[in-house]
Amino acid sequence: MESTRLLPASDANIGLAVELLRRGEVVAFPTETVYGLGADASNPEAVQKIFAAKGRPSDHPLIVHIAADADPLQWTAQWPEAAQRLASVFWPGPLTLILKRAAHVPDAVTGGQDTVGLRCPGHPDAQRLLSAFGGALAAPSANRFGRISPTSASHVLEELSGRIPLILDGGHCQVGIESTIIDLSRGFPVLLRPGDLSIEAIAGVLGQMPARPDAQAPRVSGALEQHYAPGKPLQLVHASALQDVLSVVRISQCSPVAVIGWSEPFLNAARACGFGASLNENGQLLVMANDVHRIAHDLYAVLRQADHLPVKSIFCEQPPGLAVWEGVQDRLKRASA
Ligand code: TXA
Ligand code: MG
Repeated sequence: MESTRLLPASDANIGLAVELLRRGEVVAFPTETVYGLGADASNPEAVQKIFAAKGRPSDHPLIVHIAADADPLQWTAQWPEAAQRLASVFWPGPLTLILKRAAHVPDAVTGGQDTVGLRCPGHPDAQRLLSAFGGALAAPSANRFGRISPTSASHVLEELSGRIPLILDGGHCQVGIESTIIDLSRGFPVLLRPGDLSIEAIAGVLGQMPARPDAQAPRVSGALEQHYAPGKPLQLVHASALQDVLSVVRISQCSPVAVIGWSEPFLNAARACGFGASLNENGQLLVMANDVHRIAHDLYAVLRQADHLPVKSIFCEQPPGLAVWEGVQDRLKRASA
C-alpha cells in the first residue's frame, strides 16, 4: 500500500498535513495524551478512512478535536454551565466532554448517537494543526483497534505503517494516557473514562462528584473489558505476592517473563527472585519512576517494551486503590483482562 511519511511538526509539514486533510485524507498528530489519527470531522468519507486504517468497528464514536478559539456550539446543541466551567479551567487539556450534538455532525463521527465528544487538546502542535486547518478533527488514538495507544511518533509507525500517508512527530506525549471523559449530556455529570486529570479535580470545579456509568451510559470503546492490551498475557500482582507468583512461574517453566514495577517492596521482591535490569534466564525487570504522573507518562512505552522482549508473559505491579491512580489503574486492568 502507500508508504507512510514520518515528519517533524514544522510549519511546512503542518501545511502538508492540512493539504492532506482538506483532500479527505487521514493524518496522525501528537496530543498531550496520546497520538491521534485525525480526519476532517465534517467529511464522512474522510472519517471512514480512520476506521479502515485502525480496523475499528465503524459504530464506535470518535472525539471531535477543536482549536482553543473555536466555538463549541458549532458542534454541540447545548453548552451547559458545567461544560463552560470545566472548559474554562481544563481546556486546552486532557479532558473530553460528551454533549448533545449539533444536527450537522456526521453519524460517522458520533456512531449514530445523539451526542458528540468534544476535546480541545493541550499539545501546541495539535493546536497549530487545528488553527491551520481551520476546522475540527475527528480523531481516535492512532493505534490498531484494541491495541496499546501510541505515545510517540515511532509507536504510530509501528501500528499504522503503510496504512496512512503522514505522521507528524511532536515528541513523547506529556500525559501518556487518554483523556478523562465526562458525559454532560444527561443533566448530571458522569465519569465515562478516568484519566490523568482526576475525578477529584473535576469534582472540585463542578462542586459535585461525577456519577459512575450505569445502564443508560453511552457505549465507550475504551469501556470494552479488554482494551489497551499488549500482545502477551499481562497479570497484575501485589508486592506481597510477587515472590510466590514468580516461583510458580519458574516451577511450571513459564519463564522467561517481564516484570514491571515502581515501589521499593515490589522491586526488592523481584530482585530477590533473580530479576535485574538486563535480560537473563528469568527474564527482565523494567523499573518505573515511583510517581503516578510519571507512570502514566511512561506506561504505554514500557508495555510496548515488555511486549517486544523475548518473554512469554508480563507481570506488573498492582497500582494502589487511590483516586489519583484511577487512570493508570483502569488502563492496567483492561490490559490484563
Ligand atoms: O486522549 C484522548 O482522548 C485521545 C486523543 C487522541 O485525543 N483520543 C482517544 O480516542 O482516546 P479513542 O477513540 O481511542 O477513545 C475515545 C473514547 C472512545 O471510548 C469512545 O467510545 C468515546 O471516547 N466517545 C467518543 N464520542 C463519544 C460519545 N458521543 N458518547 C460516548 N462516548 C464517546
Ligand atoms: Mg483508543
